[in-house]
Amino acid sequence: MRERIGLTNILFVILMGGALVAIPAPAAAKVTGQCAQCHTMHNSQGGNPMAVDISGAAQTAPNETLLRYGCVACHTGTNDGTNNIPYVNKTTLPTYGTDGTTGETLAGGNFYWVATNGANLDAKGHNVASDSLANQDATLGNTPPGGTGALTSQLTCAGTTGCHGDRSQDSDFGAMSGTHHADDSVIDGSSVVRSYRFLDGILGLEDSDWEYQPTTSAHNQYKGFDRTADTELATGSISSLCGQCHNDFHNGAGNVGGTAPSGAPFASPWVRHPTDFDMGNTGATSEYRGYGGTGNAYVVAAPVASVDVTTVLQNVTFNNDTIVTCISCHRAHGTPYDDLLRWDYSGISAGSGGTGGCFECHTTKN
Ligand code: HEC
Ligand code: HEC
Ligand code: HEC
Ligand code: HEC
Ligand code: HEC
Repeated sequence: MRERIGLTNILFVILMGGALVAIPAPAAAKVTGQCAQCHTMHNSQGGNPMAVDISGAAQTAPNETLLRYGCVACHTGTNDGTNNIPYVNKTTLPTYGTDGTTGETLAGGNFYWVATNGANLDAKGHNVASDSLANQDATLGNTPPGGTGALTSQLTCAGTTGCHGDRSQDSDFGAMSGTHHADDSVIDGSSVVRSYRFLDGILGLEDSDWEYQPTTSAHNQYKGFDRTADTELATGSISSLCGQCHNDFHNGAGNVGGTAPSGAPFASPWVRHPTDFDMGNTGATSEYRGYGGTGNAYVVAAPVASVDVTTVLQNVTFNNDTIVTCISCHRAHGTPYDDLLRWDYSGISAGSGGTGGCFECHTTKN
């Protein structure tokens, strides 16, 4: 069934000065294909159920919006760079590499490691309940660290207890209603459809293949703000999304910049790792100026956000385009590593001569 979903994202590759440049698809990323590929009017055909679960087995319970698949069942599969549906879960071990930029996982990583069909390790991802993907986190329960208390139930893909869609709606499909058939080519945050990856109100420039093996010229361009105080919410930034549940890690007086000794400077020494803070605020000879090496190429393994998200940046200038984000270090869905980190933190040691991870920005601490 999955291969029969119509091709909606076309990658235009043109030759420019000998270099391959991938341009995001200008056409609307709307679903295409026969209704029956995705919908079932009664979840019954010849008396047998038409709905299918994550494993591909028949599912007697009907899905919302008369769909044959739930969110996860449709978004389970193997990415190969040509698929037109982003796969965020795989039922067998996905290739990941050292930082998730060379394997078959996308920008958000993969739920395989946290899922009940994978290694079932709580710390490797967000424990999403939709389609029985994962069990509740045995350590954290439904409480986001840094947040205001437990969610009303286990995490879901979308809605009140989820990340995607309208977070005032309490079901996956209620929160996502009208998204998949709509023209989402303009991202201005004015509706769920016109938001970055259907994350309500979040801005950004979407890579056409969801960062399948991204390069300096083909990647998501994340939205960030160069804040001067941690009381600023930075509404619309990718980090502000995480801050909706992990509040204190992103904003709130004294939560990031600290309070002593003179007011609340949004500067070093920090009390929590800064986000929505531009590396351009550091000295011209600081270690951060070594990000991306000579010429300061954008580093897909430790992405930085920008205020302007109209173009994909191949190089950074430390002028509102080197903004630290939550996902500079984490991946939203999951990774093979604890705390859903992009890389193996346990293997990163000062003075080791190592590369990657923290050293992408803290270039002299190795
Ligand atoms: C019947 C299959 C199907 C179901 C069910 C489904 N999706 Fe999708 N989804 C797709 C396809 C196909 C695309 C790619 C085309 C597009 O972007 O609309 C997609 C794209 C997306 C995207 C990426 C949009 C972008 O900007 O690139 C997100 C996010 C998403 N789906 C979330 C969800 C969530 C959350 C649910 C459950 C509420 C869900 N999907 C249910 C098929 C499905
Ligand atoms: C590739 C899979 C796919 C195909 C093909 C598809 N749909 Fe959908 N449709 C979805 C998904 C996923 C949703 C749920 C998310 C949403 O509401 O956009 C949905 C939602 C809907 C909705 C409710 C939301 C809205 O936009 O009004 C209607 C009605 C609908 N589809 C009708 C149709 C009809 C009619 C066809 C055939 C002409 C069709 N769909 C073909 C995937 C598909
Ligand atoms: C809808 C609320 C919500 C949003 C939004 C959210 N999280 Fe979480 N997060 C949770 C909950 C609940 C937990 C604890 C349960 C779990 O781990 O599944 C959690 C756990 C975590 C953990 C610890 C995982 C573990 O098991 O040790 C990390 C790291 C994390 N989130 C990072 C992020 C990042 C980065 C973002 C933004 C991309 C984000 N979260 C957005 C609710 C949220
Ligand atoms: C995307 C770039 C980036 C990455 C990746 C990164 N950092 Fe940072 N880090 C910064 C910036 C920028 C500052 C603030 C520097 C300043 O204000 O002078 C900072 C501040 C810090 C501070 C506080 C310094 C102070 O003066 O208070 C510590 C400690 C730190 N980072 C450790 C880490 C560790 C450990 C990792 C890996 C898990 C890491 N960082 C990854 C950019 C980064
Ligand atoms: C510089 C890299 C870096 C940035 C930026 C970063 N984190 Fe983390 N995060 C880590 C590391 C490393 C850990 C592991 C625990 C530790 O060292 O504190 C972690 C742990 C976590 C945890 C788990 C805490 C627990 O109690 O288990 C959550 C939740 C989390 N981060 C959310 C966020 C959110 C939300 C943001 C953005 C506001 C963010 N992180 C930004 C590196 C980072």
